[in-house]
Amino acid sequence: MDSADVYKNYFSVFRDIIREMHSHKDIDDVLSMGVRKTAGVLQAQGAAVQLFDQSSQKFELRAAWGMDECYFSNGLETSKRLQQLVHKNEKSHFIRDIHNASELTSAQQAWDAGIRLILELPLALDTQVLGVMRIFLTKERQFSNDELDFVLTVSEQFACVVGRVQCIEIIEAQYDHLAKYTEKMSSLGRMAAGIAHEINNPLAGILLYSSNLIKKVPDMSPLKEGLDIIMSETTRCKGIIQGLLEFARDREPEKVVTDINLIVKKSLQILKNEFHIRHIIVEQDLGDSMLVFLDENQIEQVLVNIFLNAIQAIDKNGTISIKTSTNNKRDELKIEISDSGCGIDNNQIDKIFDPFFSTKAKGTGLGLAVSYGIINNHQGNIRVDSQPGQGTSFTITLPLLSQVAEKQDRRF
Ligand SMILES: Nc1ncnc2c1ncn2[C@@H]1O[C@H](COP(=O)(O)OP(=O)(O)O)[C@@H](O)[C@H]1O
Ligand SMILES: [Mg+2]
Repeated sequence: MDSADVYKNYFSVFRDIIREMHSHKDIDDVLSMGVRKTAGVLQAQGAAVQLFDQSSQKFELRAAWGMDECYFSNGLETSKRLQQLVHKNEKSHFIRDIHNASELTSAQQAWDAGIRLILELPLALDTQVLGVMRIFLTKERQFSNDELDFVLTVSEQFACVVGRVQCIEIIEAQYDHLAKYTEKMSSLGRMAAGIAHEINNPLAGILLYSSNLIKKVPDMSPLKEGLDIIMSETTRCKGIIQGLLEFARDREPEKVVTDINLIVKKSLQILKNEFHIRHIIVEQDLGDSMLVFLDENQIEQVLVNIFLNAIQAIDKNGTISIKTSTNNKRDELKIEISDSGCGIDNNQIDKIFDPFFSTKAKGTGLGLAVSYGIINNHQGNIRVDSQPGQGTSFTITLPLLSQVAEKQDRRF
C-alpha cells in the first residue's frame, strides 16, 4: 500500500468514527465500531476499550474485537498506572516484553495467542482517566509518527464521547432525582394538608377538655400527673400539625421591599436568650444595606429554623456565624449561616430537606422542608455543606431587588 492509500484508510476510518459519534447511537456501538476499524487499519490482531466504572472502581470491558476477555486486567494497579501515565502526559505506552508484562492479567496466554506488542492509550479528559484503549499486534514493530497520530486522534475522540455521555448520564440522574423529589413533595403536601385538617380539630377538643379537667383536679390528686402528660403531648402534636399545615399550605409569599440585614437582626433577636443561656457566640458579618423583595415573615421563619437547628447541633459552647453578601453582578444575595455543631453524617445529608426527616427525639423534621419550600417560592436556592464532627453551613441565595424588578418588567 502506498502512503496515499494509507492516509485514505486513516481518513475513512476516522470519518466513520466521527459519523457514528454524531448519530446519537449507543456509546458501546461507537466504541465497538471504533476498535474494529482501528485494529483493521493498523493490521492488528485485535483492539479493545475498557472504561472506568465509578461505582465498582474497576475498568470494565466495553468493546473488544479480535481478542478474548481474559487479556484485560481491571484491578487497582491498572487504575494507578494509567493515572501516572496521564499525569506524565504520556499519551501512548508500548508493552513490548509480553512475557513479563505485569500490565496483563494473562501474559502467558497473550504470548501463546501470538501477541508480541501491545499499544496502550489512556482515554483521559484533562487529568481524569476515563478508560483505556489497547491495540494488540502479532509483530514487534515500530510505529510511524503518522500511525501514532492517527491512534491518538481516535483515542482523543473516544475520550470526548465518553466524557460527554457520562456528563449527560449525571445530568439525567440529577434530573430524575429532582423529578421524583418534586413529585414526592407535592403528593406529601396534599396528603399532609388532608391529615392535618382532620387532626387539628379533635386535638383542639382534647386540649380544651384536659385543661378544663386539670383546673378541677386538686394538686395532690394522682390524676394530675396523667393530665399534665396528656396536655403536654397534645400541645406537641399541635406543634407538629401546625408545621404540617405550614408545609402543605404553599401560600404565595406576601412580598414587600425590605433590607435583608434587618430580617437577620430580627431573627437573631428572637433567639437572643437561647444563645446567651447556651454560651453560643454569634458572629455577624452583614454587608451594606441590601434591598430585597420578599415575605419578611417567611424569610424570618427560615432563618429562625436554621438558627434553631444550629443551636441544637451545638447544644452548648460554640459559634454561629452569619454573613450576608452580594455577588459581583449585584443581582444575587447570599446568606451564609455556619455553626460549630455536631455536623451531619454523609449518608444523611441528602435527606435533611425531606419532610419528617429528623434525627432528634422530639424533632418534627419539618423545619428544613418548610424552609426549602419558602426559598423556592422566592426563586432562591438553599444548600448545605457539612463536616461530621466539625460543623454545618447553610447557604441561601435570593434575587436582589434590581433583579426581581427586571424579571417582573420582562413579564409584562
Ligand atoms: N445545623 C445542623 N447541624 C446538624 N444537623 C442538622 C443541622 N440542621 C439540620 N440538621 C439535621 O437535619 C434534620 C432535619 O432538620 P429539620 O427539618 O429542621 O427538622 P428537626 O429540627 O425537627 O429535626 C435534623 O434532625 C438534623 O439531623
Ligand atoms: Mg429544625
